[in-house]
Amino acid sequence: MIALASDHGGYKLKLAIIKYLEQNGYSYKDFGCNSEESCNYADFSEMAANSIKNGECKRGIFVCGTGIGMAISANKVNGIRAAVCSDYFSARCTRLHNDANVLCLGQRVVGEGLALELVRVFLETEFEGERHVLRLNKIAEIEQNQK
Ligand code: RB5
Repeated sequence: MIALASDHGGYKLKLAIIKYLEQNGYSYKDFGCNSEESCNYADFSEMAANSIKNGECKRGIFVCGTGIGMAISANKVNGIRAAVCSDYFSARCTRLHNDANVLCLGQRVVGEGLALELVRVFLETEFEGERHVLRLNKIAEIEQNQK
């Protein structure tokens, strides 16, 4: 299950992503928002990120104007590794190296065609493991040290 979230600034791109997911047989859960009415990205990223933390969803795609607010807020939830990507190489590498579980996109940054390519490579690329596991463990240690 893919967790989806957007604010008003990412709503239209989220609709295009929903169409892509449906056409390609992915199941998803949309945590809002539900229109282009002004709203606050953290409300939706928190709900969607928690669905990944608790295992309901495996990965997430969060969209706002830049993708940045979504990423900053999602990364506050333990276990979330959210990456803002606007190029193909980064979207691929953040799966290979960071095991990113949330892709954040900026509707005002990338066009729809590129955004859907980023979604595709993000969903189709598996984590490489090996030396990167140690690095992810260190990120988890940072979370533990906050408590
Ligand atoms: C909303 O205007 C905008 O600030 C938001 O979508 C996002 O870009 C924040 O990071």
